[in-house]
Amino acid sequence: MRLKSTARFIRAAQCRWNSSISRSARQENQFLKDIQCRHSSTKPSALTIGNETYPTDSWTNIPDSILDALPRRLHLQPSHPISLTRRLIESRFQSPTYIHHNTLSPIVSVAQNFDSLGFPLDHPGRSRTDTYYINAATVLRTHTSAHQADTFALNASPGFLISADVYRRDAIDRSHYPVFHQMEGARMWDRRKVLGGDIAKAVWADLETLPTHSMQVSDPNPTIHPDRNPLQATHHTHEEAEALAAHLKRSIEAVVLEIFTQARLASLSTTPSAKSSSSSIATSEEPLQIRWIEAYFPFTSPSWELEVLWQGTWLEVLGCGIVQQTLPINAGVPDQVGWAFGLGLERIAMLLFGIPDIRLFWSKDERFLSQFGEPGRSLDHVEKRAGVSAAGGTIEGIRDWGIKRFVPFSKYPASPRDVAFWLPLTSSPTSSNPNPPFHENDVMEIIRDIGGDLVEDAQMLDDFVQKGTGRKSLCYRIVYRSLERTLRGEDVSDLHTKVGEELVRRLGVALR
Ligand code: DAH
Repeated sequence: MRLKSTARFIRAAQCRWNSSISRSARQENQFLKDIQCRHSSTKPSALTIGNETYPTDSWTNIPDSILDALPRRLHLQPSHPISLTRRLIESRFQSPTYIHHNTLSPIVSVAQNFDSLGFPLDHPGRSRTDTYYINAATVLRTHTSAHQADTFALNASPGFLISADVYRRDAIDRSHYPVFHQMEGARMWDRRKVLGGDIAKAVWADLETLPTHSMQVSDPNPTIHPDRNPLQATHHTHEEAEALAAHLKRSIEAVVLEIFTQARLASLSTTPSAKSSSSSIATSEEPLQIRWIEAYFPFTSPSWELEVLWQGTWLEVLGCGIVQQTLPINAGVPDQVGWAFGLGLERIAMLLFGIPDIRLFWSKDERFLSQFGEPGRSLDHVEKRAGVSAAGGTIEGIRDWGIKRFVPFSKYPASPRDVAFWLPLTSSPTSSNPNPPFHENDVMEIIRDIGGDLVEDAQMLDDFVQKGTGRKSLCYRIVYRSLERTLRGEDVSDLHTKVGEELVRRLGVALR
């Protein structure tokens, strides 16, 4: 997890207080009945989630709307685009080399989520404004990397994939949601087991078995840069790092070409209305362009991000690198060396299926859910296309998954509303008080709590400091829009009034 992670897909949460739809949906879901606060006050002393009860403390900050998302596990719902995307990627990392873990619990320790990965104590990702805490020692995982150390310790296979729901407090817009899905991948080699102990040779030999492709890849930087992207000199030789980097990049490139080829095939066999959808990636005949850029993660070195050129902008698709050797050492497998990556499934699914708004993934509307079907079902035209990519490169072993692009069922009108307020005059956070007085994510969470999935976007319009008093004013524009119906003006006004009231009640602001 980085400070600026474009793979942050954050949600607008379900309305807790006024939505009969969300209430009846809750009743349908047995798991949700298990989620209850022991006490009905606003500060329960314990949280029961599934069969476990957790004490709460001053760090606890999980709203009910987030707890409601825990049992959804979209990555396991058959025919759901998130699940289909997972399966498509899994098909390129197969057993027995790679074991797939898809049911790991989202509740992890701070040690698993941060400490085991070398996150410094002052990393912003640890703050209560960014992360959902059950209590000071327990969080909802913010990334699938939280399971790396345990999976290394398990040492059940050379490689693994972990797909799971992850949770982050963040902004609200059409590509951000506080619950999203990631896939973690890793591939390790054991120094004691490779022939002659020569890791580099073993990795290069394995690379020979990977599919080749002819896609345009820009990779201008050296594998190792002493300042920007250092070698772990006490653990790896230059040759080993070169071999691991090459294996990592080739493995990932094969997946990317697979995804974009499927997207292209989907768009070729698509209806005109789906084709004109604004987030279509695959309708142009431009060859696919990707590039590797240098990156930083506390748990890899050297590290990279992969970007794909999409509608004229470079889009971050994943982060990866050579595993910091402290991880396998601390996991009790010091002879293992290798690489890891993490990607956001929503972003890829949005590109693959042409889905324009991240809230759609959470829809229970049949007009959405019935569109996608099972992959690999229509294989009748596979033979004709096998081995040839439609994405401007060729790759071995491609088949047509029969991905169907999303056909928008309707676009309902947007209702923008502004809310302006004065912030309270408070001091800065101190080490004894971990709660900063104001953070934009708190505003976002109140908007989500009240407006639920009816909020499409929330942006700060302006801010200024009043001369003399030093008081700060902020103004936010909230765009309300349902994905499923036209909202009545008075319903939007009621929601918006309630947002204002909650901003006053929870943050102590004064409305202007
Ligand atoms: N955990 C990172 C994130 O959420 C993604 C990531 C980067 C995972 C590099 C990795 C990796 O395994 O090696 O942004």
